[in-house]
Amino acid sequence: MITSKSAHPVVKWIDERLPVFTFLNRELRDYPTPRNLNYWWSFGSIAGVVLVVMTLTGIMLAMQYTAHMDYAFDSVERIMRDVNYGWLLRYLHMNGGSMFFIVVYIHLFRGIYFGSYKSPREILWALGVVILLLMMATAFMGYVLPWGQMSFWGATVITNLFSAIPLVGDSIVNWLWGGYSIANPTLTRFYALHYLFPFLIFVVVALHLVALHMVKSNNPLGVDAKEPQDTIPFHPYYTAKDFFGFGVFFLVYLGFVFFAPDFFGEPDNYIPANPLATPPHIVPEWYFLPFYAILRVVPDIEVFGFILVEAKLAGVILMFGSILVLFFLPWLDSSKVRSARFRPIFKQFFWIFLADCLLLGWVGANPPEGSFVVLGRIGTAFYFAYFIIIIPLVARFEKPLPLPSSVVSSVLNEKKGERS
Ligand code: HEM
Repeated sequence: MITSKSAHPVVKWIDERLPVFTFLNRELRDYPTPRNLNYWWSFGSIAGVVLVVMTLTGIMLAMQYTAHMDYAFDSVERIMRDVNYGWLLRYLHMNGGSMFFIVVYIHLFRGIYFGSYKSPREILWALGVVILLLMMATAFMGYVLPWGQMSFWGATVITNLFSAIPLVGDSIVNWLWGGYSIANPTLTRFYALHYLFPFLIFVVVALHLVALHMVKSNNPLGVDAKEPQDTIPFHPYYTAKDFFGFGVFFLVYLGFVFFAPDFFGEPDNYIPANPLATPPHIVPEWYFLPFYAILRVVPDIEVFGFILVEAKLAGVILMFGSILVLFFLPWLDSSKVRSARFRPIFKQFFWIFLADCLLLGWVGANPPEGSFVVLGRIGTAFYFAYFIIIIPLVARFEKPLPLPSSVVSSVLNEKKGERS
């Protein structure tokens, strides 16, 4: 219960009946947070802000959008030209999608670098991977809605992947389409689900935060923060820090919205969908490119000259596998030390892994020919080797650097000029 004498009588009256203020006080104000969190820890709250912006702009766009294959493209053009500030809503939503992935990818790589997936944060991490999958599905279906060339052909390529599944593949594709080709039923179901999924994301984010508040934040040193000496209240220290992060983030985001709104876009999507004219290069949005590379560079898997798994199916399995493997990360990495700061070999491989993801992204943006195939195969092999071979071996054989005895001792030593 709210005990402060200064609390307003109305606040007290409500709190005695529904303890919302007690809850907010405990979880947002007094909430003990490690005193050494750096700006990489602001990306979780930035992701939350982007989720809210995406939902609000999306709801307002939906008020003007027509989910019918004959009108969808024109309704989007009308939003851009005739609806008051429609262009702003659309550019905020379009670029917000890219910003969301940038922020969440940084959040995810931060988690890997500092070992935030390790015990006791396994469920917190797994919920993050669920959020990532939901985000991908939402973004994919949203991209289909303007019914431009890339919307149509992107949906064609990706839904057709399911036809690689033996026996039931074709039936699954027809079920996804709601018919025998990509047409109006496909558009309306994608619209319905694109509207629904963000609310599921909100639910999973809420669980993500409950899990976080159960086990509390990790920190750049990766050693457990003991209360009270290693922690400070969330407010005002981290509210202030996070709001600074929001400011910088919005400068970048609005910079794109106002000065380069089509930077992340694809010109072909300003041409209405035409099932009779395939664009020369079908590319997904940039945030799917590494996975698209994995999908396309995998060869037939042969054993003694017999094709065991056809290239298409192998590509689909590896593409989904590349995300699913993240679920197992907490168990693949058995090292007791969390932060890469004290893991010299893990740290080197982390940077190589990051470079590998960028390489795969570059391969995905190019046609699967010549050296791009070779690079893509090397990149894919390294991607999986990183999780399945390198991380377990490094955990076993690496000799970590000595850990500081506590967060506070390290902070004080740093002040004295000795970095621990
Ligand atoms: C809508 C997307 C997401 C939102 C809104 C979100 C929100 C948050 C927030 C507010 C925090 C606490 C602040 C921080 O540590 O940055 C957090 C922590 C965390 N998140 Fe997320 N998250 C999202 C997606 C993800 C994804 C995709 C992953 C990984 C697969 C993930 C893994 C984690 C982990 C491991 C922590 C604990 C970090 C630590 O204590 O060191 N999150 N998240």
